[in-house]
Amino acid sequence: MTVTISGVGAALPGTVIGNDHFAHLDTSHEWIVKRTGIHTRHWLSPDESLADLAERASRQALADSGRSAHEVDHVLVSTVTPDRITPGVAPELAARLGAPGPPAVDLNAACAGFLYALDHACALIESGRARCVLVCAAEALSRITDVTDRSTAVLFGDAAGAVVVTRDGLEDGERPHFLLGSDGGHTELLYADREERVLRMSGREVYEFAVATMAEQTRKVLGARGLRPADIALFIGHQANARILRAVAAELGVPDDRTEISVDTVGNTSSASIPFALRQARDAGRLRPRDRIVMAAFGAGFVWGAGVVRWKA
Ligand SMILES: CC(C)(COP(=O)(O)OP(=O)(O)OC[C@H]1O[C@@H](n2cnc3c(N)ncnc32)[C@H](O)[C@@H]1OP(=O)(O)O)[C@@H](O)C(=O)NCCC(=O)NCCS
Repeated sequence: MTVTISGVGAALPGTVIGNDHFAHLDTSHEWIVKRTGIHTRHWLSPDESLADLAERASRQALADSGRSAHEVDHVLVSTVTPDRITPGVAPELAARLGAPGPPAVDLNAACAGFLYALDHACALIESGRARCVLVCAAEALSRITDVTDRSTAVLFGDAAGAVVVTRDGLEDGERPHFLLGSDGGHTELLYADREERVLRMSGREVYEFAVATMAEQTRKVLGARGLRPADIALFIGHQANARILRAVAAELGVPDDRTEISVDTVGNTSSASIPFALRQARDAGRLRPRDRIVMAAFGAGFVWGAGVVRWKA
């Protein structure tokens, strides 16, 4: 039996921010849509916590997988914006869900964090050290956005996405496969430092690294598994910019109708963006049993990841 994603959930805060919100920053709806594809994003209000979002997404993922919180034996949370410095979100999430004291830990691999956590989850199950892993990516980028900087303020949004990773009834032995990597030599192109606490990004330079790296890593993943573009049911790239996603998909030969885009309605939600888009695909009926989902992400560090995993049977 092979490891699959057996459930997916997502959650958004209630406050919707349209492009007109930024009109005073010498930008326009037309510029934002043309350069990024973003129409709206959601921001947490002061009375909402990241754990609230994480809990909603995780409950939906568990319901989708038909599992109860009692079966969850490991919880991984990817975030760069936890509610507190310590403790992390993961132990609180496990307790809120009623999971009986599983190992629970946050990890930070920026926008690639979901793929890092998903790789860990698959490895834990394949090694026999876990049977049911909840992977949640929850981000409140509005907490670290400079709302006076038009080059970044228009980009970011808040969201959570979660998946349940289990062994499934797929008997063909095809295992998930991930390639992860980093290059710490480009910190100055994308970072939030301790004193300033807001994201700074050299958008054009990051764009070029992101397209090249996501396409190259995804090609390697496909090559390692002997897969052709036609074998990909769904391609989900990190939702930083619709132009990046279409450029990477075009390089890979994946058509638009198999490339999931959610950045248009929720903006760049860092590591939450891939599981959020996966839930969107599921809700739209674009996910069928045994589908191969190919994912790629790129973020501050630089860190990156690409991988292929199957949807449940
Ligand atoms: C940020 C991003 C949307 C900018 O789009 P771009 O086409 O690269 O635009 P540039 O940064 O080259 O800027 C072009 C011009 O638009 C201006 N500009 C920037 N933001 C603007 C805004 N919101 N409204 C209007 N003009 C803006 C710039 O000042 C620049 O002006 P100049 O030519 O007079 O200097 C794009 O670079 C991007 O998505 N980058 C990658 C993000 C990413 O992959 N992140 C991954 C991890 S999160």
